[in-house]
Amino acid sequence: MGPYPGMVLLLLATFLVGNGVSIPTTVEGPFMPVTRRFDPSLRKRSDDLPMHHPRLTKKVPSIFPEQISLALSTPHSIWVSWITGDAQIGPKVTPLDPSSVGSEVQYGTHSGNLTFVQRGNSSVYNQIYPFERLLNYTSGIIHHVRLQGLSSNTKYYYKCGDSSLLAMSEENSFVTPPFPSPHSYPRRIAIIGDLGLTSNSSTTIDHLNQNDPSLILMVGDMTYANQYITTGTMGASCFSCAFPDAPIRETYQPRWDGWGREMAQPAEKISLVAAPCNHHEGCELVKDVTNEAYHIGSCF
Ligand SMILES: *[C@@H]1O[C@H](CO)[C@@H](O)[C@H](O)[C@H]1NC(C)=O
Ligand SMILES: *[C@@H]1O[C@H](CO)[C@@H](O)[C@H](O)[C@H]1NC(C)=O
Ligand SMILES: *[C@@H]1O[C@H](CO)[C@@H](O)[C@H](O)[C@H]1NC(C)=O
Ligand SMILES: *[C@@H]1O[C@H](CO)[C@@H](O)[C@H](O)[C@H]1NC(C)=O
Repeated sequence: MGPYPGMVLLLLATFLVGNGVSIPTTVEGPFMPVTRRFDPSLRKRSDDLPMHHPRLTKKVPSIFPEQISLALSTPHSIWVSWITGDAQIGPKVTPLDPSSVGSEVQYGTHSGNLTFVQRGNSSVYNQIYPFERLLNYTSGIIHHVRLQGLSSNTKYYYKCGDSSLLAMSEENSFVTPPFPSPHSYPRRIAIIGDLGLTSNSSTTIDHLNQNDPSLILMVGDMTYANQYITTGTMGASCFSCAFPDAPIRETYQPRWDGWGREMAQPAEKISLVAAPCNHHEGCELVKDVTNEAYHIGSCF
């Protein structure tokens, strides 16, 4: 997609926000499409948020879950993913041991009474550059648990983490989609592309939260971590113009962690379905690394 982070947003549910008129949901349709004029102030290209911005910083002690996200798997199953431990970037990085923290989700249909438990597994990924000047990265421990046999159209409450370490998350909830049929589908779907990690991206995420979608479809390009060099020096839409001396296309993987934190507010309650795009692949040597961040980290 285009090189302007945060520029494109098509969020069906935002169209009538602000004028007090509610739009029909997909289940009430079909209805005439409604469009709302694009806010031109979103087109001006805002700067990336710095890594120390409160929306991007880690808020929990090391072994507690963060960057929690849900991904719809089938009509009756959902992946719950999260990260524990601290990512490292620098000349000498030591990967964390994924077996040091368990992957457990406690869930149920009544708040405070999470009677079911499901376990999954975890991994770390490393971005090792074969050049002395480029900093290496190793991720936190990335956990995935698949909840199966869920009822349709049902509200579930859950906590994730490792109960043996007394390191469980706060209770969250999600609603499973209706079982798909010609007359039954998600109530409201948010569609986002080219999200990025700028102040305008935050506006977009706030709109999304306000509109309470039942599913989020990401049509590509998320963090733009590949517009950075490994020191975290400011992003550039044309990497080779901005960094003509870079030996290969670099990335700054901590941007993915920042993105995971920025997105957790919707994603710990609403399932994401995501498609990769050009900023996630086709980037020469870094291709496998960025794809790994995308697949292992996000599991969307
Ligand atoms: C988008 O970012 C630009 C530049 O920072 C700012 O002027 C504009 O107000 C922002 N628009 C919204 C809706 O956040
Ligand atoms: C990153 O790791 C590679 C492989 O071990 C090494 O060659 C390179 O020098 C490391 N980078 C730094 C900055 O130490
Ligand atoms: C918790 O849920 C279980 C199974 O659904 C049920 O048998 C039990 O009575 C519930 N306990 C409380 C305190 O609601
Ligand atoms: C992860 O869990 C699944 C299902 O429990 C299992 O089949 C798979 O082998 C596990 N993978 C690893 C890397 O442990």
